[in-house]
Amino acid sequence: MQIKDSVAIVTGGASGIGQAVTRRLAREGVKVAVVDVNDAQVAQVANEIRAAGGEAIGIQADVTREEDTARFIQLTVETFGQLNMAVTCAGIIRDGTMLSLDKQTGKVSRKLDLEKFRSVIDVNLNGTFLTLRDAAEAMVNGGWPGLLVPISSVNKVGQIGQLNYSSAKAAIERMPKIIVGEFLLRGIQNIRCVGIAPGYTETALLTQMNQDALKAILADVHLGRLIKPDEIADMITYCMSNEALNATTIEITGGLCYPHGIAK
Ligand SMILES: NC(=O)c1ccc[n+]([C@@H]2O[C@H](COP(=O)([O-])OP(=O)(O)OC[C@H]3O[C@@H](n4cnc5c(N)ncnc54)[C@H](O)[C@@H]3O)[C@@H](O)[C@H]2O)c1
Repeated sequence: MQIKDSVAIVTGGASGIGQAVTRRLAREGVKVAVVDVNDAQVAQVANEIRAAGGEAIGIQADVTREEDTARFIQLTVETFGQLNMAVTCAGIIRDGTMLSLDKQTGKVSRKLDLEKFRSVIDVNLNGTFLTLRDAAEAMVNGGWPGLLVPISSVNKVGQIGQLNYSSAKAAIERMPKIIVGEFLLRGIQNIRCVGIAPGYTETALLTQMNQDALKAILADVHLGRLIKPDEIADMITYCMSNEALNATTIEITGGLCYPHGIAK
């Protein structure tokens, strides 16, 4: 797949991993549509890419809305003439255990709110589905070679306090196998799908986590520090050039282990 002059959509591109991916792709000569629900930030990232000599448009959109997905894909194709890549970084966390107990009585004092569960599934899972589906539709109808990159998480294995998030990320981790299997079935030969499952990465998302829990988790990272968004962006860029990578989800975690050193 030719990298220079190809066209990518990055959802969640206004912050963290998505922002690092948009900048990195733009430096490689990729034309980038930065998509995010955060209007001010999305415009700023696109402006900064253009100021640095890259080609970018910023599009405010909510990945959970079907009409928004159709709009940002159409706008990207109208602006840049094709579409070759979709990276689905838009994501949120709303942590909490399914049940909380009253210390005195031992009875249930609080349940995980349905809205907390639903919103995380909606943005992370449904948003990823819509973006991948409509990006693939545009690639097939345009006859353009493509790469779909759904973003899972190492917490796909099941993280306590993240029943909603881990469920979404486990489902996303399976997507490349299913999508590529269906492409094979339908005779779609020139679109690949490679998922990325990052470990704990230095972004705004982690500031919403329990900071004591995060500190404890870091003690189980062999690398001894958080992953940098640029390290994820490097891996995603590499996926463009190696067409043997397909129908799989790659973990990039710095060696995250369970307590007592068993690799996750
Ligand atoms: N940071 C980590 O440790 C980590 C680890 C594993 C996986 N991930 C995943 O990587 C992705 C990026 O996370 P991040 O850490 O860069 O987070 P981040 O909070 O820095 O960025 C997420 C972006 O998604 C946008 N967004 C949220 N809801 C949206 C919606 N409905 N429509 C469009 N945009 C929306 C936000 O505005 C934000 O700009 C997420 O899918 C996250 O689950 C992050």
